[in-house]
Amino acid sequence: MKCKVTNKSINPFMSFGKMPIANGFLDEKDFSNEFFFNMEVGFNEELSLFQLNDHPKPEKMFNKNYPFFTGSSEYMKRHFRNYAEFVKKYLKTNSRIIEIGSNDGTFLKNFDNSENYIVGVEPSKNVADLALKNNIPTINEFFNTNNAKKLKKFIGNTDLICASNVICHVPDLNNLIEAVDLLLNKDGIFVFEEPYLGSMFEKVSYDQIYDEHIFIFSASSISKIFAKFNFFLIDAIPQITHGGSMRYVLKRFKNSENENLKKILNYENEKNLNKIDSCLKFKKNCELSRDNILNKIKTFKDKGKTICGYAATSKSTTILNYCNIGTNYIDFICDTTKEKIGKFSPGKHIPIKDMNYFQNNMSDCIYLFAWNHKEEIFNKEKNFKGEWFSHVSL
Ligand code: TMP
Repeated sequence: MKCKVTNKSINPFMSFGKMPIANGFLDEKDFSNEFFFNMEVGFNEELSLFQLNDHPKPEKMFNKNYPFFTGSSEYMKRHFRNYAEFVKKYLKTNSRIIEIGSNDGTFLKNFDNSENYIVGVEPSKNVADLALKNNIPTINEFFNTNNAKKLKKFIGNTDLICASNVICHVPDLNNLIEAVDLLLNKDGIFVFEEPYLGSMFEKVSYDQIYDEHIFIFSASSISKIFAKFNFFLIDAIPQITHGGSMRYVLKRFKNSENENLKKILNYENEKNLNKIDSCLKFKKNCELSRDNILNKIKTFKDKGKTICGYAATSKSTTILNYCNIGTNYIDFICDTTKEKIGKFSPGKHIPIKDMNYFQNNMSDCIYLFAWNHKEEIFNKEKNFKGEWFSHVSL
């Protein structure tokens, strides 16, 4: 599928090669039917937008088996509590709040349902069911103009629409923004947070790029995309989640220039985030990063060391497949998610093991795939005396 923001096609500047579904952890019997696509990225200069060229149909990624539960990380629960506190300043009494991609309801749980009217819209059935079990009203569908019309009839206009790590997943951004426009009050607020292009370029964390992340936004791209729909970016607040994200606040009018936003837009100008040049530099950095990590792993192997992976993240699919790292280098990847344990990693088919297996089969070196959770993990794994490593600095 092509990503639709403008009718102009983009010129890919880089290919990461043949890529499977990032969260497509699979059984051995399914190896021969595994789905792959050519993962190319391009830059839309008109909108300063970094994006995938082509991507699998969303139904292939967000279905009854989506293996990510927001509530499984204590850190993310804390983050969503703070995020809810942040947006509460925009609420009135009896506000209507919608979350797009509400997952298991971890964010919406922070709002009092008797004071506000809350609704989550979540396409993946397993996580939507868990939210319903936790008494979070949830519609198990993709958010779009069709269900926005139905929702409007049901609850009327909305004061606040929120999302996190979701808008970058939506191929038809035009339809999503039209749906937001349809539902939001005249003075309503749309707030969302997404992985930030500036952080990805700085850290060379190319593993942010995978099938689900169709767009990697910056404040410049968000401002330009939403301007087409008469929305203004009124604030942008950096977040440390997902290895560097940005929280965007949008409204139909702006009151005054926001100093914080000005600073971020200046930074993006200085770093050329509005130009293809920064992408070409990123491409070179990715190639360098791949050479470096392969050299590191080969050196470990030459010294007879064993290596395992820590956390079977969606991001790890990009690393393993782009760098061609399989069971020749990494014996297993440990993870806490029961939906992944016992399966194999997408594309490279490295076995996923539970944490007991990890403790009983200690490796000499650990590739930390969840590098964005390093504090939490280092804290838990103080007993490990070997070497942690990753393609980003730890
Ligand atoms: P994600 O980066 O695609 O969201 O996946 C995070 C994965 O990391 C998820 O499968 C759970 C796993 N994980 C652990 O196994 N142990 C941990 O301590 C943390 C923080 C995450």
